[in-house]
Amino acid sequence: MSQNCPKISVENISKTFDRIKALKSLSFSIKRGELFALLGPNGAGKTTLIKILAGIIPPDKGKVLIDGKDFFKDISKFKKEIGVVPQTINLEPELNLEENLLIHGLIYKMPFNKIKKQIKKVLLFVDLWERRKHRVKNLSGGMKRRLLIARALMHEPSILLLDEPTVGLDPQIRRRLWELIKKIQLKGATILLTTHYMEEAEQLADRVAFIHKGKLTVIDTPSNLIATLGQYAIDIYTKEKRITKYFQSREKAEKELLLYSRENTLVTLRRITLEDVFFKYIRSEL
Ligand SMILES: Nc1ncnc2c1ncn2[C@@H]1O[C@H](COP(=O)(O)OP(=O)(O)OP(=O)(O)O)[C@@H](O)[C@H]1O
Ligand SMILES: [Mg+2]
Repeated sequence: MSQNCPKISVENISKTFDRIKALKSLSFSIKRGELFALLGPNGAGKTTLIKILAGIIPPDKGKVLIDGKDFFKDISKFKKEIGVVPQTINLEPELNLEENLLIHGLIYKMPFNKIKKQIKKVLLFVDLWERRKHRVKNLSGGMKRRLLIARALMHEPSILLLDEPTVGLDPQIRRRLWELIKKIQLKGATILLTTHYMEEAEQLADRVAFIHKGKLTVIDTPSNLIATLGQYAIDIYTKEKRITKYFQSREKAEKELLLYSRENTLVTLRRITLEDVFFKYIRSEL
């Protein structure tokens, strides 16, 4: 199970496009069987990192080690261990679901019997088996995202790279995908997921890193990150803006809440989320 999944170490990876520094000396590692989320705004460098780890583009500098072995020295071997769910849907729209998966199996040089077996297994897993003869272009957005996951699982990778797997989906469908991703992790996979949805990282990830302008800021578990601010927050709404104050205990937050509500100020109490942490660390730089 997860003990057999690889460990991934990223060491000083840099990438520049023309004059844009997309990644600036990134270093971090993902533990065996861990679900690691990279959280960052548009243009932060998430897709660039995913593409490097998928062996699609090379970095300018730096190393990627998979179980201590140099990824770039033997990319074709390691690629078999990696499943990629790209941000952009790159399925064949005119072909049906089975045909899309068949192509993937052939590219990965899987034996035909194995391809047939895996198509059924992965389509059942993402709940699309009944649709196997439908053309991809007729699927809903959520179904296409599920098919991308199914395709990434075809060759039974031990590493899964998910680039914004739930982007643009409604909250209910997003939750279904979260369950699916968690299931994949529990079956045994090391997972890197990128997202700009704070809630997604908070719900799914064992650890989170913030990426901003090609740099990693903080890396920790969602609960440790939240605890750096406290447990409870009150939002105070003035005419001009919203001010948020953080507290370690509910009692202290409630006391402050009472003071503001006596002044007839609109004020609400809630738990601190990863979003607060994100804004604390990153908003000032935006
Ligand atoms: N092929 C390319 N040529 C030129 N610039 C690029 C290329 N790929 C990415 N970039 C630039 O590198 C930076 C990082 O882009 P990247 O796609 O990695 O961000 P991202 O975090 O995935 O953003 P998003 O959330 O919008 O998907 C951006 O400034 C982008 O314009
Ligand atoms: Mg991206």
